[in-house]
Amino acid sequence: MTQETESPRDPGVEAAAPLGAQPLTPLTPSEAAGVYRAIFERRDMRHFAGGEVDERTLSRLLLAAHHAPSVGFMQPWRFIRVRDGEIRQHLHRLVEQERLRTAHALGERSQEFLRIKVQGILDAAEVWVVALADGRQAHVFGRRTMPFMDMASVACAIQNLWLAARTEGLGLGWVSIFEPSDVARCLGLPADALPVAILCLGPVHGSNDLPLLEKAGWASRLPLQQVVFEDQWGRPCSVVDAAIQPRDVIEHLTGSEDRGPQRIVCLTEETTEWLYLLGQESRIVGISGYTVRPRRARAEKPKVSAFLSAKIDQILALQPDAVFGFSDLQADIAAALIRAGVSVTVFNQRSVDEIFSMLFQVAAMVGCADEGQTRIAAMRARLRAIAQAAARLDAEDKRRPRVYFEEWDEPPISAIRWVSELIGLAGGVDIFAEPAQRPLGKDRIIADPTEIVQRAPDIVIGSWCGKKFRPEKVAARPGWERVPAVRDGQLFEIKSADILQPGPAALTDGVEQLHRIIEAWRCRYG
Ligand SMILES: Cc1cc2nc3c(=O)[nH]c(=O)nc-3n(C[C@H](O)[C@H](O)[C@H](O)COP(=O)(O)O)c2cc1C
Repeated sequence: MTQETESPRDPGVEAAAPLGAQPLTPLTPSEAAGVYRAIFERRDMRHFAGGEVDERTLSRLLLAAHHAPSVGFMQPWRFIRVRDGEIRQHLHRLVEQERLRTAHALGERSQEFLRIKVQGILDAAEVWVVALADGRQAHVFGRRTMPFMDMASVACAIQNLWLAARTEGLGLGWVSIFEPSDVARCLGLPADALPVAILCLGPVHGSNDLPLLEKAGWASRLPLQQVVFEDQWGRPCSVVDAAIQPRDVIEHLTGSEDRGPQRIVCLTEETTEWLYLLGQESRIVGISGYTVRPRRARAEKPKVSAFLSAKIDQILALQPDAVFGFSDLQADIAAALIRAGVSVTVFNQRSVDEIFSMLFQVAAMVGCADEGQTRIAAMRARLRAIAQAAARLDAEDKRRPRVYFEEWDEPPISAIRWVSELIGLAGGVDIFAEPAQRPLGKDRIIADPTEIVQRAPDIVIGSWCGKKFRPEKVAARPGWERVPAVRDGQLFEIKSADILQPGPAALTDGVEQLHRIIEAWRCRYG
């Protein structure tokens, strides 16, 4: 034998790439961080918030599932969407039956088990059954010695779906507590097909840091070193770093020497919206129950506060390293948290400039000063453009409308400072510009409502702090038939989430609405 043929390996052959192979490039750090996040934050969900999942999203999720690996590329998964309410009820009953049998089989842990929620079939937006296909016996490749590799493949498909659902901000729960023959009968499966999962999928109330079973004290995650061996079963493996945590993996990828807060509770919506815009939502661990911007925050984060009150114990349990609040109205919440040792930042922005200042401070605190500054510059540029559009109408001698902005109806409260400033910027005249300087709502109560009529607003804009604006009620107020806005039908609502939130909302969607209303008036009546 020559030296070459003696060698058990032929490096020349091994190194050759298969025909048509593409280079395997790593994902960018932020893409990779996203994948790891989906893995670490994927949770089995059982608490659903109803709603629906649109069909385009569903098809993305199913495509992800269908791209799972499978033994011999047999693709043994089949998915059945359960749309019929009767069938859903039936599946729910089957799981209930098996839950009781399981409890019985668990013996002394039976009561503990019964306290744990194991399915969300009735509440989830979507229910899907995943089954092993019929005709699997024909597949020998990879299954001759381990026929259950088909099951392993189905599990890969479900895991893909699970991760994709996390990516889309949807929860997914895998229910396996049922008698397969019953479910097979219920759905008309062929004799050798086998249902393996009832999947509950859809919007959820919030996510958990820990598996529910860990929270419930049923089991906890094993230490990594206990499940990784080297050469021989039970022999420790040197690569295992016992101290490494999911957060370290993400930080390593995002390259951050990040000392900014990692567990932020936002007591009002504007800081939440801003952190999402900055792509820093992973730092948020709790939000205000009034949050609607962005919508997905409601599904992704626990709601821990109202405006004037907060669940202090729940906030403390989240172990925040920063809490962001707003205004004197949250002073008591702030005090309670500070006394409990939490770092609290309460902003008191009332003017447009103060809002920008708050935005910059928050961005800087989370290490995004540059990104924050870029976004702030874009918002400022848009405000300038709106002001210029108003100035052009001035140049055409179009009168500026007198605007009454009502923050609350009984008693009437006029606009807060940033709203008043934005009205002016958009080309209107706030008829209560002077009280707008007063920061507290109670100091902006209009003691004598006939004042409003006397000031003869051309436009009335209502934004009743979360309550629906009723223009017909306003028009019917005594004496208001004389008000030009009522005469000309110029009563409008701007949702409070868009204008009374002292953050990105007011400076984007809020001011845009003011601009449209005021400009339309000027073009028609000015
Ligand atoms: C094969 C499989 C079957 C499961 N069956 C159920 C089930 O019937 N009911 C349930 O509530 N959770 C079920 N789960 C979810 C597990 O309880 C959950 O994945 C585990 O507790 C870890 O929590 P995590 O997924 O939130 O990390 C199942 C998970 C897997 C992988």
